[in-house]
Amino acid sequence: MNKVIDSIQKTGTVTGKSGRIHKLHSPINRQEGLFVYNLIRADASVKKTLEIGCAYGLPSLHICAATNGREDAWHTIIDPLQNTLWDGVGIQNLDAAEFDAFELIETKSEFALPLLLQEEKGQFDFVFVEGSQTFDHALLDCFYATRLLRLGGYLVLDSLSRTPARCAVDFLNTLPCYEEYASVSETLPNPWLRRLLSLVRKPVSRLFTEEDLKTILQEPFLKTRNTRMVAFKKIAEDNRDRDR
Ligand SMILES: C[S@@+](CC[C@H](N)C(=O)[O-])C[C@H]1O[C@@H](n2cnc3c(N)ncnc32)[C@H](O)[C@@H]1O
Repeated sequence: MNKVIDSIQKTGTVTGKSGRIHKLHSPINRQEGLFVYNLIRADASVKKTLEIGCAYGLPSLHICAATNGREDAWHTIIDPLQNTLWDGVGIQNLDAAEFDAFELIETKSEFALPLLLQEEKGQFDFVFVEGSQTFDHALLDCFYATRLLRLGGYLVLDSLSRTPARCAVDFLNTLPCYEEYASVSETLPNPWLRRLLSLVRKPVSRLFTEEDLKTILQEPFLKTRNTRMVAFKKIAEDNRDRDR
């Protein structure tokens, strides 16, 4: 898809503008990256994209790779810590990949999004939210994203293993203006059953070998399905408050 993405995924490291090499931590994985890329590639009308929370920039790379070559494609990134905590890695990667249709707003989303809304209401085709990891931030980012998105646009949320993003998704699912369009899930051993088994491991180990226990844990009924990333499609205007 893109040499810079391939190299990051191969080495698990990125280089900052200071020249320091950083180990990746909790970025979107290969499957999530492909999900974002394929979602955008499948809809040629997606050109104007917005990302809240860039960090080492793997989502930014997938978004720009997907819109690359589309007329008027433009990616707006909001991240207050890009050049400090993240050592400019996200932007450096976009430069290395030779993408130039993007801008960085280096401000907190709570300041940047209201300003964008004054000028760009209903203008974005795609918004990716993974900024500050608190529920009120996730909700605030989604509040503005909903108003910044055009009808037919997509809102993608990541980090659904964390409570703030999961609560925001639960709320978005109640809004008539959205339909859940697609998601990335993984199947994991059910955490409660794992815990139970670990508690009774000693008595159980007299009955089963380690190998048997491993096989038992693979049984589908002992597994749970976890959603990691979700994409909503805006299917209507948000008309709940008609007096706005
Ligand atoms: C979990 S990281 C994003 C990881 C990234 N999506 C990836 O997969 O590599 C969260 C990002 O949100 C940024 N952030 C923190 N507070 C923010 C705020 N108030 N507004 C916007 N972004 C914020 C952080 O600097 C960081 O880049």
